[in-house]
Amino acid sequence: MNTGKSVLLIIGGGVAAYKALLLIRLLKTAGVGVRAVLTAGGAQFVTPLSVGALSGEKVFTDLFDLTDEAEMGHIQLSRAADLVVVAPATADLMAKMAAGLADDLATTLLLATDKDVLIAPAMNVRMWDHAATQANLATLRARGVTVVGPDEGDMACGEYGPGRLAEPEAIFAAIEAALAPRLSDLAGKRIVVTSGPTHEPIDPVRYIANRSSGKQGQAVASALAARGAEVVLVSGPVRLVAPAGVETRKIETAREMLDATLAALPADAVVCAAAVADYRVDGAAEHKLKKADGAGRSLTLVENPDILATVSALPEGQRPRLVVGFAAETQEVIAYAQAKRTRKGCDWIVANDVSQGVFGGDENAVTLIDAKGAEDWPRMGKDAVAEKLAGRIAAALA
Ligand code: C5P
Repeated sequence: MNTGKSVLLIIGGGVAAYKALLLIRLLKTAGVGVRAVLTAGGAQFVTPLSVGALSGEKVFTDLFDLTDEAEMGHIQLSRAADLVVVAPATADLMAKMAAGLADDLATTLLLATDKDVLIAPAMNVRMWDHAATQANLATLRARGVTVVGPDEGDMACGEYGPGRLAEPEAIFAAIEAALAPRLSDLAGKRIVVTSGPTHEPIDPVRYIANRSSGKQGQAVASALAARGAEVVLVSGPVRLVAPAGVETRKIETAREMLDATLAALPADAVVCAAAVADYRVDGAAEHKLKKADGAGRSLTLVENPDILATVSALPEGQRPRLVVGFAAETQEVIAYAQAKRTRKGCDWIVANDVSQGVFGGDENAVTLIDAKGAEDWPRMGKDAVAEKLAGRIAAALA
């Protein structure tokens, strides 16, 4: 797929460095060139010989001598690739990147590059949680660095938590997305995206809500806009900054979301990524409800309109050509999602297992379900899921 593209892979020090070897294999198999740099720490865990054998290229280390410098200077090495990838990115490397230090080959290249940078951090959970690392992470993100992982799980040091290097497949998927040509294959198409939770009032100060962060929906809106689509984002209350290049219409309740979505039509496609409350309180109180000591209280709930089903059922001529829903399931994901696709009448369902901490997180493992079957995508960042989905939408609307 990406034949002709190449990455500069900086391998930092850490037990997870062996996964960089698997990543090199995935990249080479996909036709992506890999030129690797080993930090002094990285060279303690994997040898230049194994990295060189897999990449098929000379491996650069701090021992990089003057002959190399004459053949290929630091600046050229830092700019010859299409993307710079740091995997594993240690706490130390992240700190040096954030501070702009350049005291070895890897950090010099990172400071000298004019290419996009993608990092896959790996470190002890306490190091990851430390305010210094989190501040460095925020700095790097703000500068446009793409961050993949870390995953949560058992660590080589015996502790449990976030800090494991993301799986090579996930890093590969993020690289694939980063290397994808900037397309305008959705130019002239209008797409409506619903996102975030809804808030259903109980009284003027209380409401029923859910844990949706809106990250996946906003990522989809951004990815569609990046390909040239005219995007209307109908968003429930979220803590995110509205994405650039997208027209955002803020709503609170499911009924408002339905009205705003229908008002945004006609469109070529609608993507319903919102976590809409299935029920609202029947006759929300006009004034704040008072506590009645000792007595319980019941709320009567009535069903909300289903936006996805309503849009899917629009008559021909009004129905968007492509209607995509999301399905958050905690068990039998594919079977329930298939049933949901048929019941709601949409074309595709993006199904995910939310028992694995997807809500609020930055990663998602989804299955794309259409009339023909189901396709599992590897666990990847929500941005990468969005880009891949945008690519499929572009192909379907072409
Ligand atoms: O039935 P469930 O809520 O799991 O269906 C999820 C899909 O349906 C999502 O795409 C969601 O945005 C959409 N939905 C909707 N309106 C509702 C409930 C769900 O558009 N009232």
